[in-house]
Formats: sequence, structure tokens, C-alpha cells
Amino acid sequence: MTDVRREGYDGTGPGVITPDGCAVEMWARLPLNGEPEVIEAAVPPGASILELGCGVGRVTGPLLDRGFRVTAVDESAAMLERVEGARTVHSPIERLDLGGERFDVVLLASFLVHAGSLEVRRGLLDTCRRHVAADGCVLLQREGEDWQLTLPRERPLGADGLVRVVSATPVGEGVNSVHVEYEWPDARWTQTFLSRPLSRPEFEGALAEAGLAVDAYLNEERTWARARPVTG
Ligand SMILES: C[S@@+](CC[C@H](N)C(=O)[O-])C[C@H]1O[C@@H](n2cnc3c(N)ncnc32)[C@H](O)[C@@H]1O
Repeated sequence: MTDVRREGYDGTGPGVITPDGCAVEMWARLPLNGEPEVIEAAVPPGASILELGCGVGRVTGPLLDRGFRVTAVDESAAMLERVEGARTVHSPIERLDLGGERFDVVLLASFLVHAGSLEVRRGLLDTCRRHVAADGCVLLQREGEDWQLTLPRERPLGADGLVRVVSATPVGEGVNSVHVEYEWPDARWTQTFLSRPLSRPEFEGALAEAGLAVDAYLNEERTWARARPVTG
């Protein structure tokens, strides 16, 4: 599989850039932001987890350390090469086919649910629904509802890094082109990607279309949600 850039997605900076504009080297140095703790608190101990869009395994490793069994999926071979200790699957999420295998937990983090293309978003959520056990759950990370309105915005990354969300420019019905800069003293990366802001009803509606129902928000900001498959 060749890493063909997705339309509307781009990235700059040292090292390999993935189809959605992510820089492998940048994600390899990006510190955690509480993701493993949120996940651990929301799912049963030792659960099997299907992690969609795992990148270099930034979250995968800490999940393995906590005793979860992780299958890590990404469409970037360069990202997957960095993942240690987990079973890896090289595939676009929307075309994932694990032959009917089901997981206690399906994880769709990193705001992937905001995909610019409605077709891709449906594909991502259908993959979640197809791979979650009947009594399992899907954990999703979504943007804060005002994130694309209050720009530019920046926050520190570890001791000497910085991420700056520079702009969100409308490029179609309900879709923005978002530009982000990542800076360290020795390196700088940018990513441009398409994102659909989702109000809570829009987010829950997209999940409902895929046969998933939110049963809890996992943090005060409501940027982490847990959903269950709807039966019948
Ligand atoms: C922003 S990075 C986040 C990586 C990881 N979740 C983390 O938090 O460290 C997004 C990752 O998802 C992958 N990705 C994005 N869209 C994808 C898709 N439709 N199918 C497979 N992988 C995808 C990219 O290749 C990239 O590695």
C-alpha cells in the first residue's frame, strides 16, 4: 500500500508525512495528554481493545502497560513500524476487515470522528460498530464545541514544545480546513486537515446512524464519549 495523501490533508516538516498530514517524528515525541487514564477508567480491566488510528503507539504502549490487549490499526506503514508490543494491522480504518472478530472496546481517538468527508466518517463509525462486541463499547474523542471558533489557540507540549491551532477556514458546507503548527527548539511541523465541527446533537446523530448510542461522557468538557451498540 502506498501512502497517497488524502485530498485536503497536508503536512510539512522533517521525516515521513502520513496520508492525513501527520508527521511521524512529531507524533513520536508528542507527550501524552491523559488519554490512558480516561480509557482505563471507562472500560473493564484487561479488555481487548481495537485502537483505530494508533500512530506510533503513543497511547498503545501505556494501554499495554496497564494490562489491556491491543490490536493497533493505521493506514501508515511508517507509523506502524514504531508500534511496539501490540498486534498491528495496516489498513484504512473505513475498509478494515478482521473477519468478524469483535473487541470489548473499540477506540476512535484523535478527533478522527470529525473527518471532512461524510463518506469517510460513516466508514469510520461503521468499522467501530462492526468490530465492537454486543456487550462492549466504543470510546471516541471529539473536539470541544468552540475549538474552531476561538482561534488562534496554543498550549505547551512537555517542557519545550508548543502546539498552535492557527486557523479554521470554511471550505465547504460544514467543513473547515484547519491549520496547526507544532514547534520545538530544534524542529517545526505543520498539519492541514479537513474537519467538521460537531455539536453534541450532530455528534450523537452521526453515531446513531451507525447504530451506536452514547451512554456516558467521560470528562467535564465532553471531549471523550463512550457509546454502546444499539441492538435490535
Ligand atoms: C493524529 S494521529 C494520532 C495517533 C494516535 N491516535 C495518538 O494519539 O498518538 C492520527 C493517526 O491516524 C491515522 N489515520 C488517520 N485517518 C486514518 C484512516 N482513515 N485510516 C487509518 N489510519 C488513519 C494516521 O495515519 C495517524 O497515524
